[in-house]
Amino acid sequence: MSPLLQLLRVCVPLLAALLARAARPLPTQWTLAQQGTTGVSAMQLAIVSPTLAIIFDKVEANPLQIGNHSAWAALFNLETFTTTALSLTSNSFCAGGTFLSNGTLIDVGGNGVVSPQDEDTNGFQGLRIFEPCNDPNGAGCTVFDNPTTLKLAKSRWYPTALRISDGSAMVIGGTAAGGFLNTAGAGQFSYEFFPPKNGGAVVASPFLQDTLFANLFPIAFSLPDGTVFIAANTASMIYNIQTNTETRLPPFPNGVRVTYPMTGTGVLLPLSPPNYTPEVLICGGSTASDTVSPSTLSSQMPASAQCARMTLTSAGIAAGWAVEQMPQPRIMPEGVMLPDGRVLIINGGTTGVAGYGNVPNQIGQSNADNPAFTPVFYTPTAATGSRFSSAGLPTSNIPRLYHSTATLTPLGNVMVAGSNPNVDFSTRKYPTEYRVEFFSPPFITTTRPVISGLPGQIGFGSTITATVAIPAGLDLTTIQVSLMDLGFATHATHSQGRLVFLTSTLSGTTLTIHGPPNGGVYPPGPGWVFLVVQGAWSTGTRVMVGSGGSPPVSS
Ligand SMILES: *[C@@H]1O[C@H](CO)[C@@H](O)[C@H](O)[C@H]1NC(C)=O
Ligand SMILES: *[C@@H]1O[C@H](CO)[C@@H](O)[C@H](O)[C@H]1NC(C)=O
Repeated sequence: MSPLLQLLRVCVPLLAALLARAARPLPTQWTLAQQGTTGVSAMQLAIVSPTLAIIFDKVEANPLQIGNHSAWAALFNLETFTTTALSLTSNSFCAGGTFLSNGTLIDVGGNGVVSPQDEDTNGFQGLRIFEPCNDPNGAGCTVFDNPTTLKLAKSRWYPTALRISDGSAMVIGGTAAGGFLNTAGAGQFSYEFFPPKNGGAVVASPFLQDTLFANLFPIAFSLPDGTVFIAANTASMIYNIQTNTETRLPPFPNGVRVTYPMTGTGVLLPLSPPNYTPEVLICGGSTASDTVSPSTLSSQMPASAQCARMTLTSAGIAAGWAVEQMPQPRIMPEGVMLPDGRVLIINGGTTGVAGYGNVPNQIGQSNADNPAFTPVFYTPTAATGSRFSSAGLPTSNIPRLYHSTATLTPLGNVMVAGSNPNVDFSTRKYPTEYRVEFFSPPFITTTRPVISGLPGQIGFGSTITATVAIPAGLDLTTIQVSLMDLGFATHATHSQGRLVFLTSTLSGTTLTIHGPPNGGVYPPGPGWVFLVVQGAWSTGTRVMVGSGGSPPVSS
């Protein structure tokens, strides 16, 4: 062998190894696939296990049957794309939901009987329980729904539910009768808790009274200090559960309303150590008036493109809402947190308002028109002015208007389902939509980090270890460990959606991870851990954060 060849034999593999170690840009093109149908309209959506999503709908003439009638709830298998009907008793029309500290999911509120042939019961005070269910295909998984033995204290249609820092559920607002807008007579200007606190006392909320009329499905997040951020209409505030005090925040700029039927979406931006400083982002909605008759509104009124962002510290509140503009306006957008801390803003329309059957020039029955078909990323850490981008994102051809949903899945892609702006099952323009779509990041089938050996439970302040396998070429200095609550999607609210970055140190293939400090930072309950390296994330591993015990019961 010539000296030159010998040199090459030594140098080429060395060079290749060096190049493989240097960070290289990952492909950026996401893919879009339609896989499966939901059988019931996906008005409410939550991930309940590594393989299953639960869907709650309203009572309507769905093709999926249970017993001798249409179903209005189902489990969707994320691996086989098949659907299994679930039996409900009460009408879960426009209900809210949350997980509790012990992993149980509750679905709360709803509407009255609409279809005696479906044998539904009044769901206004519905409190439906889905216990943790580990069969990968959902065999034996059922919903406990018995309004005569378990129900909310108040009738609540369009309520928000979220898990608070002690692991119980707070149920916010809603209305006892309904319509397009809330009313002074029927509105539930109150909170209640499950399990009940203070003997089941219902706590009055002046804030909800003051935010009439477009104040249904309030946007709410549990904050690291145990208080709760709540936004409704053009206003927001911080509620202290212990002292029962509401601290009002500055109104959203430019008169933008952000809750039903002027529906925007809210995201609690990622919480990072050491300070876990909370920041909220509220996007979309409408400046349409909520004091005029809907007959004077239109499906063609442009929605709002505004995002308002504020840091919830005294300095941040003093600085007020920072305003940014999305590339296009959106009514009913979904804000889906991604494991790398970006937000995927997806679904909704560019004109009109939420709901159906109210505005004069409705499409079919839809109050909204001109669907937004291309999602957009929001990068919270990017410089102002360069945070929005649709680069690499596919465009769908399925309108996702009123009663559509989206969620991150344990596989690490985004499931999109629903759209049903109709009083009952319909095939007209903007039909009842059962097709499921998945937006998948480019690395999902190729360059993926793997995290394994995580314990099933992560205690507050605990230190745990896991084993990682990171594809060659990814920059190890970019490692992020994301503890995520994938939330419960209903009407563009993802109230308990959350991302907490955990500190970690890598030694060989062992990653040492520090759990969240307390239930303020991550309310005790189920979560998913993703390993993110150079923007590529692993699949999510389900963990129980805290003790896994049931939420406290007060006397
Ligand atoms: C459906 O089945 C239930 C239980 O078997 C029965 O009580 C009910 O009358 C049936 N409803 C209809 C519409 O056939
Ligand atoms: C979780 O707690 C709730 C409220 O106390 C209870 O209804 C449910 O059965 C519990 N689930 C489990 C799995 O213990």
